[in-house]
Amino acid sequence: MKLAVVEGDGIGREVIPEAVKVLDALSLPIEKVHVEIGYEKWEKTGYAITDEDLETLKKCDCILFGAVTTPPDPEYKSVLLTIRKELDMYANIRPVKPLAGITGVTGKSDFNYVIVRENTEGLYSGIEEIHDDVAYTTRVVSRKGSKRVAEYACKLAKMRNNNVTIVHKSNVMKSDKLFLDECQQTAESGDVNYNDTLVDAMAYYLITYPERYDVVVTTNLFGDILSDMSAAHIGSMGLMPSANIGDEQAFFEPVHGSAPDIAGEKIANPVAAILSVKMLLQWYGYNNEASLVERSVNYTLNQGIKTPDLGGESTTEELGQAVIDSINSQVETEPE
Ligand code: NAD
Ligand code: IPM
Ligand code: MN
Repeated sequence: MKLAVVEGDGIGREVIPEAVKVLDALSLPIEKVHVEIGYEKWEKTGYAITDEDLETLKKCDCILFGAVTTPPDPEYKSVLLTIRKELDMYANIRPVKPLAGITGVTGKSDFNYVIVRENTEGLYSGIEEIHDDVAYTTRVVSRKGSKRVAEYACKLAKMRNNNVTIVHKSNVMKSDKLFLDECQQTAESGDVNYNDTLVDAMAYYLITYPERYDVVVTTNLFGDILSDMSAAHIGSMGLMPSANIGDEQAFFEPVHGSAPDIAGEKIANPVAAILSVKMLLQWYGYNNEASLVERSVNYTLNQGIKTPDLGGESTTEELGQAVIDSINSQVETEPE
């Protein structure tokens, strides 16, 4: 496997090294290519990402990505959106399930759902016009874009509890009527059980009855918002991993951002990044290694080794090392 490693900015530079150490502990035949991308690069060179960087990324099987800072500068184009679009990573997968020894702010622990977010269009189309007294952002919802993400959601549902909830705002936006129709047809023809909910009500239901959901499919911005909200169920922004999936390639990243409020303090929770490695391993077919990583994370957290976001006192590195120790001890005790 050829893997591009992008630390990015802020805590990306702190959590990705731990995730890479976890990967290294598994001794798999993985060739790593480090790529410098992000706001820090922009400050140094005037470019956040170059065509050459994109070419490098395109030549890899997959990407492990930390986080990048997006400054409020109208000239600055989000590199994350550029990568998702250029590499056509159309489905953003965000699993929401409890971890051992951690209770989120809602006190619930009987949920296990996954958000499948359309990742290349919607309000993130990048088609914008800014005038002196008005600004426009075009919301693009295409049949093709909706269908392929719906197909991914249904495929995932078949491997789970065969249930898809389509989240939209079609009472207000015609673009979402198209999204809803396409998702319904896809679920119907794939023999997947489905229902649909308006996004505002969904925010309420998801926080109140998370146990009701299996696969939640939605458009780009709604998926973004519902996923950070879902991190509250798990217990921290620092715990939620994600995968951006395309037809050939995929890239894996924590859901959180560069967290400037804690960057440099070496206390960022590396679990989201480490669980992103777990998703990467699973995507590539290293299923045993993927479950080993997940088990080790749960074992470590259950031992009470926690960063401050979880009420603990461990550093990023201490938590990362504890996961690696757990991996090593399980590898040593496994029969030949
Ligand atoms: P954020 O996700 O960076 O932080 C939100 C809150 O969660 C902060 O209080 C932060 O300290 C906390 N947090 C996040 N990750 C954590 C971790 N691993 N451990 C402990 N606490 C953690 O969101 P934000 O502050 O709105 O955004 C900061 C910057 O990151 C912005 O420039 C934004 O554009 C960018 N961003 C990038 C990505 C990405 O690269 N994938 C995602 C979201 C935001
Ligand atoms: C995420 C982030 C990004 C998004 C931003 C940084 C462009 O919030 O991955 O959730 O909105 O997709
Ligand atoms: Mn987000």
